[in-house]
Order: sequence, then C-alpha cells, then structure tokens
Amino acid sequence: MTTTQDPVTSAEKCTADFRRNPHPVYAALRDTAPVCPMKPPHGIETYLITRYEDARAALSDARLSKDMYGAMDSYRRIFGDSSVSLDDNMLNSDAPKHTRLRKLVNSEFTPRRVEALRPKIQDIVDNLLDACPTREPVDLLPAFAFPLPIIVISELLGVPPEERSLMHRLSTTVAQTGFSKESKQAQQKAEEELHAYFSELVARKRERPGEDLLSALTKDHDKNDGGLTQNELVSTAFLLMFAGHKTTAYQIGNAVHHFLANPAQLRAVQENPELVGPAVEELIRYDGSVESATFRFATEDVEIGGMRIPKGALVQISLLSANRDPLKFDSPDEFDVKRPGNPQHLGFGHGSHYCLGAPLARLEMQLALTSLFGRFPAIALAGPASEAKWLEIPFPAFRGLAELPVVLDPEP
Ligand code: HEM
Repeated sequence: MTTTQDPVTSAEKCTADFRRNPHPVYAALRDTAPVCPMKPPHGIETYLITRYEDARAALSDARLSKDMYGAMDSYRRIFGDSSVSLDDNMLNSDAPKHTRLRKLVNSEFTPRRVEALRPKIQDIVDNLLDACPTREPVDLLPAFAFPLPIIVISELLGVPPEERSLMHRLSTTVAQTGFSKESKQAQQKAEEELHAYFSELVARKRERPGEDLLSALTKDHDKNDGGLTQNELVSTAFLLMFAGHKTTAYQIGNAVHHFLANPAQLRAVQENPELVGPAVEELIRYDGSVESATFRFATEDVEIGGMRIPKGALVQISLLSANRDPLKFDSPDEFDVKRPGNPQHLGFGHGSHYCLGAPLARLEMQLALTSLFGRFPAIALAGPASEAKWLEIPFPAFRGLAELPVVLDPEP
C-alpha cells in the first residue's frame, strides 16, 4: 500500500493556466498520483481523487461521511465559526437524516414532475432571448445563463421576483471559497443575511401560503410529524436555491462556449435536434460545472486506489478529472455529441447524494441550447475561444466562465 506521495499544493492548482485548462494537471495526477495528498490553505490533511473508478467508489463509500456536523472541528477551521448555519440540509448529512430530508422534496424533482414544467421553462427562455440585443457583443452569462435557472428555481420555491437579485448576489459571495480573513468574514456576513432572508420568507409563507415548494415544506414543518426542524427548513431552502442555479448557469455557459469553439458539433445538433439530449450529457462530462464534489471526511482509515486515507482526513473528488479518465472513456479529451454511453459520467455525482435536480438541469439546458441556437443560427463568440476568461477562485468548486461575450445574429 502506498502511503507517501508528493503533495499537490493548492497554489499549483490555482494558477491562471490551471484555471484556463486544468485538464493536463489532472491527467498527470491520474497517471502518477491518483489519490494524492494535498496542501490546502486550511491546513487540514486532504486527499484528492482523480481517477474515475476511485471517484465513483469514493462517492458511495459510507465510511466517507458528508455529515459536516460530525466533523465540526475541521469544518470550523475551514469555514469559520458562523453564528448561523445554512448547512443543516441533505447535502451535509448521512443516512438516516439524509434519507429523511431528501424524501421531503424528492417528488418535486422526478423526471415526470419536471417534464410538466416544460412550457413554463420554454416561456422563460423565450422572454430572456427576446430581451437580448443582437448584432453587438452581449455577455450571455448575465443576459441568459444566470437569469434562466434563477427564475426557474425561484418560481418553484416561491421567491418573489424583486428578491431574486439579492439571492444571486449573496450566494455569489458564499461561493467565493477564499481563505483570507476578509473573504471568510464576507462569506459569514452573506450567510447570516441569507439565513435571515429565508427565515423571514418562511414566516411569510406561514402567514400567506402559496402553491410553491417552500409553502408546502413550511406546512410540513408546522405539522411536526417527522418533517423538518426550523433550521433544516431554512437550510433546505438555501440549498435548493444555491445548487439549483449556480451549477446550471455555469453549465449553460460552458456548453455555449464549447459549441461555438467546435462548430462541427454545433452543426451536428442543429441538423439533428434529437441529439440535444446526448449533447447535454457529453457537455457535462467534457466540462462539467461542478469541478469537485463537496468534501467528504474519513470516519475511519480507508484505502482507495492503494492509498491509505487516515481517519479524520478530508477527501476531495475531482469529477472533472474522473470524467476525462481514458481508462473509462475513449478519447476523453474530444467533445463528441455522438459519444455512446455518457450517462455513466460523474458530472451529477453518484450514490445517495446524486444530484436531486438532474432532471431539471437537463431540461433547462436542452431548452436553453435548442432555443438559443435555433433562434440565432449564426451566433458567434465575440473573441477567440482561447482567450475566454475562466473563473479564478482559490479552491475550485465550480468550473465556469467569468464572462461569455457573444454576438447573436438571427441570419443563418
Ligand atoms: C448542470 C447542472 C447541475 C450540476 C452539474 C449538478 C451537480 C451536482 C453534483 C455533482 C452533486 C453531488 C455533490 C456531492 O456529492 O458532493 C449535486 C447534488 C445536488 N444537487 Fe445538483 N447539479 C446541477 C443542477 C441542480 C439543480 C437544477 C438543482 C435543483 C434543485 C440541484 C440540486 C441539488 C441538490 C439538492 C443536491 C444534493 C443532493 C443530496 O445531497 O442528496 N442541482 N449536484
């Protein structure tokens, strides 16, 4: 069993070159150090997993816990000791709590329930595209990719239109996973504001319930028969809002960028619209917006890929790397909308925490891409693809663009 390897420092993973194209670094790690000790800025022993089979096994290994309350000491050292917690939700828990929390909202996100939202989502897509300027550069992230999932998840949850930009601003601050004192303070302040906002929204739903998901969950909580506690309710509302928009927005951005950088793939989908489903899977495999799964921590010594991960260590699983593993995918660095077998990618995770919103994300992306490329067949990047600006955040959770300037041209 291997016990030592050269650690990767987070600094190595945070260069501008890495952010632009992390794949060569991940390829080297898969070859030479597939379960690699890291030197993260928070100083807690952490292991990075980069191969597909190891990643898939780790994602469903019950010895790797998601219960961050159980790991409270390490967790506080990383994320600070906020007076409120938005983490009292399914993503940060193990069975049986995880099962209970997920079950309460699961039925809202089944493929059948989501399919019923198709006309509504199509309307939102059409309205956003109507408002986009044509024949001049427009940044498609704020104009289209972000508003679409924000509106969709807000409608589902019951967040009023005038309060959605606040949600977006605060959750952007929460997502800036910096480790400086200032960055931690800004994060804590944003978390406190979000906690206060959702607590107040819950109070309004109690007063005047609507047809939305948060009203239903509030009723469930008030019946107090195995439903949610107040803190779980607020944290679940936050999780759905946060996970329901950032991921999809960055994924739409990545998708548009790669289609415009690979015109033959775009033509294939324009000529065969039924390819849009497989194309979305391929895009999530090829450049998924969730670069690494959320941290797990080892509740006992665990051996993965021949490496011992000691009890108490954190585990970071790179989905981006696993999805480019040549031991799993032929020619993994090729973007090929006709690739067979892509449902096996790990872009939505795996195991009990597999993405709750996957059916919704798939539908939003299919409608967004079909309408965008159908209405603007001559859409083009406003600058060279190689000069695209990717997010630069110190500890990558999201893989996405910082901006996406394009020119929308309705003429073919
Ligand atoms: C393309 C868009 C999306 C991607 C790539 C994505 C990816 C992921 C991944 C990788 C996980 C597992 C994380 C882990 O195991 O650490 C996850 C979990 C989750 N996602 Fe998504 N997601 C997307 C869209 C959405 C949407 C639209 C929602 C809407 C509600 C959503 C809600 C959730 C929730 C609630 C969880 C936690 C599930 C659990 O812990 O059981 N996601 N997602």
